[in-house]
Amino acid sequence: MDKLVISGNRRLEGEVRISGAKNAALPILAAALLAQTPVAVDNVPELHDITTMLELLRGLGAASRWHNDTSVEINATHLNNPLAPYESVRTMRASILVLGPLLARCGEALVSLPGGCAIGARPVDLHLKGLAALGADIRMEGGYIHARARRLKGCRLVLDQVTVTGTENLLMAAVLAQGKTVIENAAREPEVTDLARFLVKLGANISGIGTDVLEIQGVESLGGNRPRYTVMPDRIETGTYLTAAALTCGRIRTTRTCPQILDAVLEKLHEAGAAIDSGPDWIELTMSDRPRAVSFRTAPYPAFPTDMQAQLMAMNCIAEGVGIITETIFENRFMHVLELRRLGADITIEGHTAICSGKNRLQGAPVMATDLRASASLVLAALAAEGETVIDRIYHIDRGYEHIEDKLSRLGATIHRIEGSSVPC
Ligand code: EPZ
Repeated sequence: MDKLVISGNRRLEGEVRISGAKNAALPILAAALLAQTPVAVDNVPELHDITTMLELLRGLGAASRWHNDTSVEINATHLNNPLAPYESVRTMRASILVLGPLLARCGEALVSLPGGCAIGARPVDLHLKGLAALGADIRMEGGYIHARARRLKGCRLVLDQVTVTGTENLLMAAVLAQGKTVIENAAREPEVTDLARFLVKLGANISGIGTDVLEIQGVESLGGNRPRYTVMPDRIETGTYLTAAALTCGRIRTTRTCPQILDAVLEKLHEAGAAIDSGPDWIELTMSDRPRAVSFRTAPYPAFPTDMQAQLMAMNCIAEGVGIITETIFENRFMHVLELRRLGADITIEGHTAICSGKNRLQGAPVMATDLRASASLVLAALAAEGETVIDRIYHIDRGYEHIEDKLSRLGATIHRIEGSSVPC
């Protein structure tokens, strides 16, 4: 397994170009299954999860071809296999996103039930309940979800709780259903909005985009004359690099990003004492002194995103004062706390709340990544720590951060990768 070696306590400054959003690109690539003509998707990040999704689509009969580093064409004209195998779903939970489009396009889907993961049980009951309400026959067979429907029938859905991929799956199922579907209590994350805009580009009839009530009038088919779509910038990657500036008392400008979709994070970084400037597609953060600790609760968009919780906790570890963080989305998203403590952090956990008393300095040490955003938090803490930190199992971070050591090196970090043996299955 690869490792990252970081020598910390260096001020980061410079410019970093933000990649396309992983959590928008994944549903958009899955939605390409709905199109009867080839579609082109631009600003796709070069990440392990993207490769996994394209392999999954190929197994379903959808060919894909890269035109350059970030543009891929998907041709789902002839789908010939409704099976999303365990091997794919096991390595990437987001494979569940092929369930809705496969069912809508082919009338059948056989998708391995995703298992749990480090941050929580992450059931998909709301996905299945919604598809059944749309008329699908859902059976569990040998660890697989077997869904069938001659043609889905639109209806009013009220989601018991906000679910991002649940909203995405049901939206993708509804666009080819007969009649009108209303999804209430829909997720409003910008990545859901990006998917909806892509579907409209393919000819879908969706209103209420960006709100928690999506109205979909089903159409007969989707595609068009080689439609092309550009994936939105990654707001979590943006927030991660801005936090790197805050935590190393540096100055970083993130480019090719979008300032309008990070308000809750920018507000907390400002509260920590950062000076923040922004333009149409850039955000710059300068931290002149030691950051002040911040407190927050994670919640669905537009509140503070759970995917930025671990990163702000890393900042709290070296901030002045006490920061109290409550995680309300996932039941086990404090795995990074145990590793941050190895760097000298003073954090106590009470239920779903972490109380962090900032230290003047962390000390480098060997640590282990447990999930995507926990790994980002360890990288950030290592950048601020005195001495050398070795982060193991960084295949987690390669799933969500494109060329992270290159981008950080260009910002002045002392970081390099040790190639290890293959990733464990
Ligand atoms: C998406 O996961 C993101 N992944 C996650 O990003 C993100 O943390 C999460 O949304 C919350 O914003 C992708 O978009 C690929 P949910 P998702 O369904 O859709 C419960 C990252 O780091 N729930 O919104 O799986 C669930 O257990 C990843 O990039 C049910 O109970 O999250 C959780 O407590 C991590 N039943 C809550 O809802 C369901 O059927 C929110 O989960 C579905 C969800």
